[in-house]
Amino acid sequence: MTVLGIETSCDETAAAVVRGPAHPEILSNVVRSQIDEHTEFGGVVPEIAARAHIEVLDRIIAEAMAEAGCTWDDIDAVAATAGPGLIGGVIVGLMTAKAVAMAAGKPLIAVNHLEGHALTARLTDDLDFPFLLLLVSGGHSQFLLVKSVGEYERLGTTIDDAIGEAFDKTAKLLGLPYPGGPAVERMAAKGDVKRFRLPRPLLDRPGLDMSFAGLKTALRTQAKKLEPIDEQTVSDLCAGFQKAVADVLAARTKSALELFSHRFPDEKPVIVVAGGVAANQEIRTALTEAAEAANASFIAPPMKLCTDNAAMIAWAGIERLALGPVDDMQTSPRPRWPLDQASSGVLGSGKKGAKV
Ligand code: KG4
Ligand code: ZN
Repeated sequence: MTVLGIETSCDETAAAVVRGPAHPEILSNVVRSQIDEHTEFGGVVPEIAARAHIEVLDRIIAEAMAEAGCTWDDIDAVAATAGPGLIGGVIVGLMTAKAVAMAAGKPLIAVNHLEGHALTARLTDDLDFPFLLLLVSGGHSQFLLVKSVGEYERLGTTIDDAIGEAFDKTAKLLGLPYPGGPAVERMAAKGDVKRFRLPRPLLDRPGLDMSFAGLKTALRTQAKKLEPIDEQTVSDLCAGFQKAVADVLAARTKSALELFSHRFPDEKPVIVVAGGVAANQEIRTALTEAAEAANASFIAPPMKLCTDNAAMIAWAGIERLALGPVDDMQTSPRPRWPLDQASSGVLGSGKKGAKV
């Protein structure tokens, strides 16, 4: 099967053509980042994001089709992110996918963005179920038990800020550019990790939930005390912050792997990491060490497939298509759409469902 994937749920406009499920092959994977449009605001502005998607999406789709050397006759279905994400962007992507699917006479597959991340390691590493996924991006920080296509159990999540969001807010607070993660990592490399002892929130409690808002507030308090802060202090604060995040992730990963071994005593535990924060070297090292200590495999797909992209959406479409019936034109865009419908929201919930 050859599927066109479309991704527009945050600040990347992406289209890709993927073939599978046997001998999976990415025929094209076009991603256009909107970072330049959002930099001056220090974060993603939803309205700007939606407009930027509208402006370029048709060209990005055409590019993905051309690069794959495909005509519409070669395409078996169109898959698009239908949520969760910034609703303006999701609407642009899903409506475009519906139009394309209708015009070309192809089935439509409405993909959960998180499912795209969850199944990527099956595209890149031919991974069998079950496995653990740690998703750490600007919008999500959660441990998922991936049991099969459509069967996900959320084992733990942040109860406030996502990790990438905490990096971005910390950077803003310290006068560093957006996106904050790479900026904080660069400064941390020159910092003294021992100078500031920042909290490891929630680690005194059982379970796999995490919290990062308090960490950011603790950092702000320390910074305020020393104002005006010099460059070395910024570096030291970044080093302390990054170490605290890495420690929290390592400790929770250890518990997640124990839980996995308890549930699946005959399976070798595997943990897959996805999301932009996975680019952070200190966090990668901490996760690798936690996996090694538990005799588990650690898989980090190539960065281009770890961050938001449409190849993962096309692949999730292929996995869904292989199981049978797909979606119809009534499918609506969803700002919130937890993968694990059974776990209740920890950040409150409203008419549209759980926030995380
Ligand atoms: O997965 P992603 O590209 O987009 C979504 O949020 O869906 O993740 C972006 C996030 C941003 O918050 C960014 O600051 C963070 O990932 N990030 C990093 C690093 N590179 C990107 N965080 C820590 N260290 C990094 N090197
Ligand atoms: Zn994502």
